Amino acid sequence: MSEIKIKEIAPNLFPKGDYISPGLSTIKPDSCFPNMILGNKYDTFWLYLRRDIPHNWYVDQRRSDVGFVSRDEAHILYNTALKFQGKKALEIGCWMGWSACHLALGGVELDVIDPMLSEPLFNESVTDSLKRAGVKDSVNLIPGYSPQTVEEVANKFNRKWSLIFIDGHHEAPAPLNDAIICEQLAQADALILFHDLSSPDVGQGLDYLKAKGWHTMVYQTMQIMGVAWRGNVEPVMHQPDTTIDWRLPPHLQNYAVSGANQTAKKDKLGATLKAVQPYTFLSEAQLLMRYSQVKQVYDYLFWLPKMLWQTTSRKKFFNS
Ligand SMILES: C[S@@+](CC[C@H](N)C(=O)[O-])C[C@H]1O[C@@H](n2cnc3c(N)ncnc32)[C@H](O)[C@@H]1O
Repeated sequence: MSEIKIKEIAPNLFPKGDYISPGLSTIKPDSCFPNMILGNKYDTFWLYLRRDIPHNWYVDQRRSDVGFVSRDEAHILYNTALKFQGKKALEIGCWMGWSACHLALGGVELDVIDPMLSEPLFNESVTDSLKRAGVKDSVNLIPGYSPQTVEEVANKFNRKWSLIFIDGHHEAPAPLNDAIICEQLAQADALILFHDLSSPDVGQGLDYLKAKGWHTMVYQTMQIMGVAWRGNVEPVMHQPDTTIDWRLPPHLQNYAVSGANQTAKKDKLGATLKAVQPYTFLSEAQLLMRYSQVKQVYDYLFWLPKMLWQTTSRKKFFNS
């Protein structure tokens, strides 16, 4: 497969619905992913997909129920990797290689761990995309499950990582276990990124690093990213899309948001909950958590008919 030279391109050359934070260097490896299409957010039943955020959600047309990191999120990865050029990086969960490609284009030496890599279709597809982008030589694709395989790779190659991206198994206690092994195997100067922090299960991973004394912050993106860092490294700064009325789920209320001033909104919610709290048997934290759960279920029920309709139409199409 011939390699395509991926160049920095102007932000206005991206499709409508692709937001990229000002201040980030831009790159567009789309041609290396011939099966990438615009996804339908109602094709998946995942509770924590933020279907109300009007940013493009890309998928692979062969498996359209699993999304890639959004354009903005891919640029957070790319720009972070640029700060770690030549250093060892680890990705847990690559799917079709979109996020891995952005990290590798940023110039890191990347180990990628994903059980899907043991399936020929996935391995060949990821390999092909990375070759097209001209970065295959700097990426080590390893079939396996975190945290076991992370530990094995570290022992086998005597490896510690400076940059780590966690986007693997999303259900508790997996993200916490990923964070625990990564904190042990991270360099003294290190940065760890999370995707899909809209899920409280993933939030447990970031909470763990915060409790261990790492600096932390979240990025208001389609699925919310989180960053934890220690030692002599700095995260990239990000400006959320100003056209969106961003909300932070209650499990993230105590985190700083890069580039955002959400104090007023947070205080408004805090004041309302404070006013009703004496009439409940709950602490303020419990009340916040209950509010979050009810709000999530409310949104989900609102989206459910569309998701069911989508599934039924697809079945009809395939049966006809
Ligand atoms: C949402 S997808 C990742 C998407 C990818 N980061 C991107 O944006 O291009 C999640 C991936 O995690 C992988 N995964 C699930 N459990 C895992 C585990 N225990 N260790 C590593 N990867 C895992 C899945 O196979 C899947 O490919």
